[in-house]
Amino acid sequence: MNITITKNYSELSVKAAELFYKKIKAKPSIHLGLATGKTPLGMYEILRKKMKTDGLPTDKLKVFNLDEYVGLSKNSSKSFYTYMKKQLYEPLGLKERQYYIPNGEAKDLEKECLRYEQMIDQFGIDLQLLGVGRNGHIGFNEPGTPFDSLTHVVKLKESTRKVNASFFGDESLVPTRAITMGIQSILKAKEIVVIASGEEKARALYEFVHGKMTEEWPITALKNHSNVTVICDQKSARFLKRKEGVSHD
Ligand code: F6R
Repeated sequence: MNITITKNYSELSVKAAELFYKKIKAKPSIHLGLATGKTPLGMYEILRKKMKTDGLPTDKLKVFNLDEYVGLSKNSSKSFYTYMKKQLYEPLGLKERQYYIPNGEAKDLEKECLRYEQMIDQFGIDLQLLGVGRNGHIGFNEPGTPFDSLTHVVKLKESTRKVNASFFGDESLVPTRAITMGIQSILKAKEIVVIASGEEKARALYEFVHGKMTEEWPITALKNHSNVTVICDQKSARFLKRKEGVSHD
């Protein structure tokens, strides 16, 4: 595991954007796995600007998303589809055949989960971006999710709905279910980058780096993966012990 600790959120965003930019430049047909939430907003802004300024080709790129709310219209301003459309799909000029996100409006949700998992298997994800929840969730895989889980429907924890209420204005408006790539689906990616910012993520990062593998902290499943990079700011890294392989920028 490679850990880079940055001074603050802005530097974290620059570092993460640089990493993704380099990978896209080196392989324009790269398959990216992407996350939503607050943490990637800074890196997405830098990435889309730099790709545009430098004229990086995007016609061979494919992007896959971790999750989507169930029961929310795709075109709702709160859907992850709309988030991605605003952050990357439209600014990068991606065509519909280039982006993939679970369909939370599907009539048969089980069938949709199967379809999404098969697609991940068919295309394969080269580089997966992950944020982490305060409770250690990755995607919407909440504590207790089996490590061998594939794409599935999940009932969101009250704590997660509370945190995500900031996007909805009120907790009661946050959907109660989502479709998420499972932990096993995430582990299929060739390379994984975790980004974390702020004190509220410090415990989850501590469990990931220094704790034991346990389904109570879903992020600890990544200990099993051979190519994981963590980019985190000082606040979220406050419980991490200094050791080799940890670079402080
Ligand atoms: C988002 C996702 C979630 C978030 C996590 C952190 O697609 O799957 O796991 O990455 O909840 O969210 P933020 O970045 O808002 O703290």
